[in-house]
Amino acid sequence: MDSIRITGGKRLEGKIPISGAKNSALTLLPCALLTAGKLTLGNLPRLADVDSFGHLLNELGVSTKVSGAKRGGGAKRRMTLQADEIASTVAPYDMVRKMRASILVLGPMLARMGESTVSLPGGCAIGDRPIDLHLKALEAIGAEIELAAGYVKAVAPGGRLSGGDFSFPVVSVGATENALMAAVLAKGRSELFNAAREPEIGDLCNLLVAMGARIAGIGSAHLVIDGVEGLDGCDYDVMPDRIEAGSYACAAGITGGSIELAGARPEDMLAITNGLAAAGLMIEMTGDGMRVTADKPLRPLAISTAPFPGFPTDMQAQFMAMLTVAEGQSFLEETIFENRYMHVPELRRMGAEIEVHGRSAIVKGPSRLTGAQVMATDLRASMSLILAGLAAEGETEVMRVYHLDRGYERLEDKLSAVGATIERVSAG
Ligand code: EPZ
Repeated sequence: MDSIRITGGKRLEGKIPISGAKNSALTLLPCALLTAGKLTLGNLPRLADVDSFGHLLNELGVSTKVSGAKRGGGAKRRMTLQADEIASTVAPYDMVRKMRASILVLGPMLARMGESTVSLPGGCAIGDRPIDLHLKALEAIGAEIELAAGYVKAVAPGGRLSGGDFSFPVVSVGATENALMAAVLAKGRSELFNAAREPEIGDLCNLLVAMGARIAGIGSAHLVIDGVEGLDGCDYDVMPDRIEAGSYACAAGITGGSIELAGARPEDMLAITNGLAAAGLMIEMTGDGMRVTADKPLRPLAISTAPFPGFPTDMQAQFMAMLTVAEGQSFLEETIFENRYMHVPELRRMGAEIEVHGRSAIVKGPSRLTGAQVMATDLRASMSLILAGLAAEGETEVMRVYHLDRGYERLEDKLSAVGATIERVSAG
């Protein structure tokens, strides 16, 4: 298993190109199932999860063709997908267990084929992550759901969903996405209330409309979908990754540096940039993104994660790492997932002073971070360890970086380019 070695203490300065958004790509890819036409997705990030999703779609009979430079190249990656012959409507356990986002084939497969069987995704490091809301939303749109032998089987009586209304008791990104992809081919109208409003949902709606879907209320928590007879393929570019951009902004913060986030979309990141500004970083809009500069000691913050437009849970670990060097005591509250502090014990081993009480954490700063061998546990926790390594005295080795490869394209190249001493060590 590869690890990443960093010698900390360098002030980072320069420009980082932001890649396409992982959490958008993973919901745009299954849209290929909704049509026999060709769907070409541009600005696809080179990530393990995107590759895994492509393999899952191949299993279902979707042909995929990738163009753009190989891994490591700067050229934008494009994938053309075509689901003219669905070979199977079953997403098997051994594929779903590797990537829980596989559950996002449930809705589109059901809409296109009238049935869909997906292995139940297990929990993961950050929490139990049930899919009850996905299933309730699909039932409201007309699906009949059966759970057996670790699989969920959804059927549309008569082969086509009726459409219907559903109000989400808890905001759920994935459940909103599955419901949207099912409703677009239903017979009638569907209305979703308390739908997730993350920018990735907007990206999905924009793609579906480009394919011929009829959706009103895009960007709001009330989505109205009028089902259509069929959808066509199209060309569509994935939105930039707001969490990748926010993560590298924290790299500027923790090293007292200045990084231009090329291609970042400011309107997706207001809660993130508000947090950075409150901590004392300077945010300047540039022609195609923003520059984030930390030219004075950081101020402590009080942050509570929330669904969009609140502070994103996917940025909690990265802000926690940055706040270990702030001058004072910060308070964080993780309201979305029940176990998203796996980075804390590892940050403590690097000298951070953090207390966890249930879903709250108190970060005492400034800490003098020292390099250590640390273990990655989940995607965003891994990034918080990289960030701490960039500021720590001496050498840090982050093990199990396959977690990072799921969500950060060419991380060591991008950080080297702004002055970090960082290398990937292959364990053979
Ligand atoms: C998406 O996960 C993202 N993943 C996550 O990013 C992100 O943290 C999360 O949304 C919240 O923003 C992708 O888009 C691939 P949810 P998702 O359904 O859809 C509960 C990363 O690091 N819930 O919005 O699984 C759930 O347990 C990843 O990039 C139910 O109770 O998240 C959680 O407490 C991590 N029942 C809350 O809702 C359900 O049926 C929000 O989960 C579904 C969810």
